[in-house]
Amino acid sequence: MKIKNICCIGAGYVGGPTMSVIAQKNPGVNVTVVDLNEKRIAAWNDEDLDNLPIYEPGLADVVKEARGRNLFFSTEVDKAIAEAEMIFISVNTPTKTYGIGKGMAADLKYIELCARQIARVSTTDKIVVEKSTLPVRTAQALKNILDNTGNGVNYQILSNPEFLAEGTAIEDLHNPDRILIGGDMDSKEGRDAMQALVDVYAEWVPKEQILTTNVWSSELSKLTANAFLAQRVSSINAMSELCEKTGADVSEVAKAVGMDSRIGPKFLKASVGFGGSCFQKDILNLVYIAKSYGLNEVADYWEQVIIMNDHQKRRFAANIVKTLFNTVSGKKIALLGWAFKKDTNDTRESAAIYVADYLLNEQAEIVVYDPKVTEEQIYADLDYIGTRSEVENRKLLKVVRTPFLACENSHAIAVLTEWDEFKSLDWKKIYENMLKPAFIFDGRKLLDQKRMKEIGFEYYAIGN
Ligand code: NAD
Ligand code: UGA
Repeated sequence: MKIKNICCIGAGYVGGPTMSVIAQKNPGVNVTVVDLNEKRIAAWNDEDLDNLPIYEPGLADVVKEARGRNLFFSTEVDKAIAEAEMIFISVNTPTKTYGIGKGMAADLKYIELCARQIARVSTTDKIVVEKSTLPVRTAQALKNILDNTGNGVNYQILSNPEFLAEGTAIEDLHNPDRILIGGDMDSKEGRDAMQALVDVYAEWVPKEQILTTNVWSSELSKLTANAFLAQRVSSINAMSELCEKTGADVSEVAKAVGMDSRIGPKFLKASVGFGGSCFQKDILNLVYIAKSYGLNEVADYWEQVIIMNDHQKRRFAANIVKTLFNTVSGKKIALLGWAFKKDTNDTRESAAIYVADYLLNEQAEIVVYDPKVTEEQIYADLDYIGTRSEVENRKLLKVVRTPFLACENSHAIAVLTEWDEFKSLDWKKIYENMLKPAFIFDGRKLLDQKRMKEIGFEYYAIGN
């Protein structure tokens, strides 16, 4: 079966870039990305490509090529569902904040709403593709809803998890390590549906990199991949603390270890802690699933990755207070970076939020500079944690438009995001305009230690 119309529900960090690339590479297929959020859709349709709702290197060029040709962004969800033969569900699946599984399980209410809407609107057969990251066996729940509320329409459910990383989304989508498609391999309809999706990707991905599996393996592989990646960060971060105690340098350790081809060099960069919308959420979800099957040792094993990450964020902030003579009350501290990693404006679960919160509790005066994150977002992140009133957050934390302004007259600087521009700042000038002793706490091991010390800074990097 050749797909002619694709609908994607959810125009977020995954739906937007993924569908843009699918449309770019399949000019004969109409791709409509729908969302309930009118502001977000308006931004995707903005004439000025600088106003796209997501910052990703290379994204604007892809949107420019395909938008209006065969790529459309719309709030007309029912219409797009009705017209499509293939529907991707790419809505958010946050950690539950209420009821059973609160703080651990994935909240599937948005997924279920999509399923009910698809069932209500559809009059022709549909291939429904799980693009969101979901607990293993969610496809079964989707199928139950669709089969029991649909009006005689046949549904095939596929799992097609997304492995892109933010900041490199377009590069990752253009050159994926693999595409994973899970489906019902035991029926002809299932195999046909899988083939239809394989054909979409085969327009630019070599066939041997398109993997087909059963649905449950596909769903679980996504959670497993994120758990393994986060585990590497927590592993190197655990070593960073030991390095600081023993005089070893975590970068040297990472290099020596990573040269073992069985271990490999990637994802061994010590940091102030991993952030992002998914690592924590997906591991908590895995922990919850393991517990629900009574696999307590499995659950405890993976939970330790999160415990280590929380410890890393806390100890980084605590070290700032301790080094600044055990008090930061009334002291100005500059935070360079608020995004959870470079080259994105996404701040979800960013370590910066927790470091700022810790320091604000110690009555520090915080000034933040980030090249891509808006002031509105920074306050929204702090207000969301809910430690202080909105008024207090705005009084104690300021957002400025240059790194120099952030650092001027400060007691200390904390580097929290590894933005390239921080490496080439005029550090001598910054030093001259700070209070002395001038401290830098480099949570990304980004700056040249020797040079910083030569300039006169008291320089502390994570893991030495
Ligand atoms: P997001 O919050 O950026 O986007 C989700 C969008 O879905 C929102 O714009 C929301 O308005 C919309 N939405 C929710 N319910 C809807 C409904 N019923 N109808 C129409 N629109 C609806 O989330 P995201 O970062 O794109 O993540 C989506 C999924 O992809 C999650 O399951 C996540 O775990 C997974 N994922 C994310 C990444 C990433 O890098 N962000 C990578 C791989 C996988
Ligand atoms: C991650 C995965 O890399 C993607 O494959 C996956 O699709 C995605 O989650 C998802 O499911 O949402 P992402 O969170 O966008 O992607 O970004 P990463 O590059 O993985 O970084 C996550 C966090 O780990 C960042 O805070 C980053 O700074 C930190 N990190 C990463 C380190 O501290 N050290 C490293 O060596 C690597």
